[in-house]
Amino acid sequence: MYNLNNKVAIVTGASRGIGKAIALKLAQNGANIAITYLGNKEKAMEVCNEIKNLNRKCTVFCCNVADFDSTKKLIDNVIKEFGTIDILVNNAGITGKDALAFLLTSDDFDSVINTNLKGTFNMCRHIYPIFIKNHSGKIINIASVAGISGIGGQSIYSASKAGIIAFSQSIAKELASRGITCNVIAPGFVDTDMTTNVKDNVKNSIPIKKLASPEDIANLAVFLASSDSDYITGEIIKVDGGLCI
Ligand code: NAI
Repeated sequence: MYNLNNKVAIVTGASRGIGKAIALKLAQNGANIAITYLGNKEKAMEVCNEIKNLNRKCTVFCCNVADFDSTKKLIDNVIKEFGTIDILVNNAGITGKDALAFLLTSDDFDSVINTNLKGTFNMCRHIYPIFIKNHSGKIINIASVAGISGIGGQSIYSASKAGIIAFSQSIAKELASRGITCNVIAPGFVDTDMTTNVKDNVKNSIPIKKLASPEDIANLAVFLASSDSDYITGEIIKVDGGLCI
């Protein structure tokens, strides 16, 4: 267990999958949580109720992370509701179409890059001055091993995740002397809605021979959100069962 008592965390895309597991695990370790969702308010409310049952504060916000102004409004509303923000988890993401690069369109490019890379930028951009003012803050960005080595058929997704890695390392350098860390989790295959179609085919290619659970990713996220990781910044940490050794 880590001591996140009275810390305030925002987790984007937390109505299901990895985001949900991270929000719950942060709450189990004492944090109050602002959950964001895009389409499924009902599911987000279920997660919120689970968090409230742990005697933590939780509020649900609808926000498209790809939209600069909406993310600004989100951060302002979280500050109004919780008074401060200590932890940001940029989890929201999409894979886009699974196709060879020459079959992809300009719109395919924009939707994946705008959600994954611009979404991460938008959130970090608006939280940046708050963390600077507080002289503290933890940023945890969810990339993918696709952003380290690339995946055929997922070129835009891979590029978006590689972009998140370089962006994170850059702001880690900007923020390190201000008591703020920024680290990246790079999952391999995780058992969520995102991998429903590929799960049976990929199992054998993973040295550990099974997909990660969302909780495997959340275990690392709570460590990176805690003061136990204060001397770690700009790291890209794979949670991939040995996939990319
Ligand atoms: P998921 O599809 O279950 O959840 C993604 C969440 O992001 C959903 O709640 C969705 O509503 C939200 N979202 C999508 N677009 C959004 C937008 N424009 N604004 C706000 N929210 C938006 O996927 P999963 O598996 O939980 O993925 C979470 C993160 O982990 C993603 O960034 C994904 O790329 C990354 N990841 C997942 C892996 C996997 O095998 N499942 C592997 C490597 C990385």
